[in-house]
Amino acid sequence: MKHILSVDQFDKAALETLFQSAAKMKQLVETKGGSDILKHRVSANVFYEPSTRTSSSFEAAMYRLGGNTISINDVQYSSVAKGETLEDTIRSLEQYADCIILRHPEVGAAQRAADVASVPIINAGDGIGEHPTQALLDLFTIYSEKGTIDGLTITLVGDLKHGRTVHSLVRLLRHYDVTIHTVSPLNLSFPKEHAKKSTHPLTAHESLDDIIRNTDVLYVTRVQKERFAKPSDYDKIQGSYVITNNTLADMKTDAIIMHPLPRVGEIAFEVDSDPRAAYFHQMRNGLFVRMALLAQVLA
Ligand code: NCD
Repeated sequence: MKHILSVDQFDKAALETLFQSAAKMKQLVETKGGSDILKHRVSANVFYEPSTRTSSSFEAAMYRLGGNTISINDVQYSSVAKGETLEDTIRSLEQYADCIILRHPEVGAAQRAADVASVPIINAGDGIGEHPTQALLDLFTIYSEKGTIDGLTITLVGDLKHGRTVHSLVRLLRHYDVTIHTVSPLNLSFPKEHAKKSTHPLTAHESLDDIIRNTDVLYVTRVQKERFAKPSDYDKIQGSYVITNNTLADMKTDAIIMHPLPRVGEIAFEVDSDPRAAYFHQMRNGLFVRMALLAQVLA
């Protein structure tokens, strides 16, 4: 059984194997469109929270490898709306699918699903917990764009409290020799329980100005509106940092800007045309990394 629940399952050798496989998937897509290694295999996407990239790239990854997907991208149109438990939904879908890709608002939901499942579960985000496959594609993006991970200064900016992608990324970066800085609005700082899983100290700053000049990778996240109990608290914070051409002017010429997306104003559109904007490549790498992961789990 090869569940993917947390990035903690990946050691450095596993990461290297994954990157090699993702690079091969990229070449495969770009030369032949795909292959048939997952012919007659079926995955199920079960998303209790909205998704564009994660659900579509997992689905596209199955198609590119010759397989197929059952997509429940809005559980309100499934038996969940009738009160079915997560466990029963998992036990149902495993009758039809060879693996289940699950996004859920509760921390630990993927583990709960894995506890009852007889097919592999892939965690596509469990609340404010982890988002392992995103962090894997983020790391692959850093490696592809910069040619290395060791020696880089990585700055995480935004809602680091609720952003599950940065939780997973920081945990993965313990395998590399990096310097990590954080910049977040008040009360949205990086959680201690995830920081503890890093071998690197996370240096917190009040302003991006303090470290923007030294940054090699600027990883921007959105303020996660849906995680706020009081909308007025969100309104106070939203827009407190925006990456613009002025920010770019202070950055190294070979730095990269990443974002798991969706963005809601924190990177100005004018930044998109700068060669340092890496978030479109990052998105596309999601297809290749997820092809590699599905091949590992299902082939
Ligand atoms: C992220 C997520 O769902 O955690 N999106 C994604 O999967 N690319 C980031 C976010 O929603 O802000």
